[in-house]
Amino acid sequence: MGETNQKSGSPQQQQQPLLTPYKMGNFSLSHRVVLAPLTRMRSYGHIAQPQAVLYYSQRTSPGGLLISEATGVSDTSIGYPNVPGIWTKEQIEGWKPIVNAVHEKGGIFFCQIWHSGRVSDYCFQPNGQAPISCTDKPVGGEFQIDGTKAPAYPAPRRLATEEIKQVVNDFAVAARNAMEAGFDGVEIHGANGYIIDQFLKDQVNDRTDHYGGTMENRCRFAFEVVEAVAKEIGADRVGLRLSPFADYNDCPDSNPEALGLYMAQELNKYGILYCHVIEPRMITQFEAHDTHNSVLPMRKAFKGTFMVAGGYTQRDGNEVVGNGGADLVAFGRWFLANPDLPRRFELNAKLNKYDRSTFYTHDPVVGYTDYPFLEAADK
Ligand SMILES: Cc1cc2nc3c(=O)[nH]c(=O)nc-3n(C[C@H](O)[C@H](O)[C@H](O)COP(=O)(O)O)c2cc1C
Repeated sequence: MGETNQKSGSPQQQQQPLLTPYKMGNFSLSHRVVLAPLTRMRSYGHIAQPQAVLYYSQRTSPGGLLISEATGVSDTSIGYPNVPGIWTKEQIEGWKPIVNAVHEKGGIFFCQIWHSGRVSDYCFQPNGQAPISCTDKPVGGEFQIDGTKAPAYPAPRRLATEEIKQVVNDFAVAARNAMEAGFDGVEIHGANGYIIDQFLKDQVNDRTDHYGGTMENRCRFAFEVVEAVAKEIGADRVGLRLSPFADYNDCPDSNPEALGLYMAQELNKYGILYCHVIEPRMITQFEAHDTHNSVLPMRKAFKGTFMVAGGYTQRDGNEVVGNGGADLVAFGRWFLANPDLPRRFELNAKLNKYDRSTFYTHDPVVGYTDYPFLEAADK
């Protein structure tokens, strides 16, 4: 600490668009380097654990925005081992010290609220029942989240029309619980092939009621969730994450440009704080590829804060903010491996490499809170 070029407003900081302040609704961000939501599977019993206090506070900077890992909204929402939830009192209590630690360091913390839908298994469901979805078609393919080959997911149970409002309500209750835990807002997880994305995408949603078929119908569930959550905690505390172009978890759409644009346009009706979109170049979950697709039409259509993620480096992060393509950039793997990422950008410092083999392991320290800070890495 103590170098002159770390002070806010220093010439070096002003040169980098990523390090300029930004007013996101009522929140004053001191820079635009956001911690992307990252599932870390260290929440034993689906309760956020004390080790997350250190993990998140390591990644906090004054005026920096953090988005939590995907956090289950109900007992049917869970799809992986040791991921946190926010539907019980104990889970809310588990989050409190973590949120406090982020606030003590001046961070702004949003909880990503999530339902896995059909990307789940009997063992995660109450009474060993089938996971729920908009469809009864199982996820195809053999690969699971950590890249290991595993048996295919079980066939889900198709939700009856009248059951859908219960799931919508689960998101609203989770949002209220997130407020009780002290979070500043929530990000609704509408991306990556989980339940909202399952409803959105025409290659998965095969419903014949008013939640399936036309684009308007497929988007209905997402908007009902947005509306219910916004009503519960205020639209100025709500973000939505989308990945129209991605087909993770076997969840593609035949016309992602149209879907993304429609979502971005219609979202304006709800006045939510931000829209967070995964770049089309992330065709596979962890690799960037060349593509002619762009999120720019969504950026232009959406009137609130626009956040992008997916394969960003310091250089193209600065570019996209500098050329107005986005207001904020969420960094996943680089932030995972570099707890002091904004400061490293400020100093144009070298980055720690990330270790994929410990992304999803359950150790409370290894691959979690043991990535070195700059001072330590330099020694
Ligand atoms: C270990 C790991 C866990 C992730 N967990 C989540 C998650 O919980 N919710 C989510 O929306 N995206 C999740 N993602 C996707 C990231 O938020 C991000 O979109 C992705 O890593 C691409 O950004 P990057 O190139 O900066 O890493 C995860 C990614 C990784 C590597």
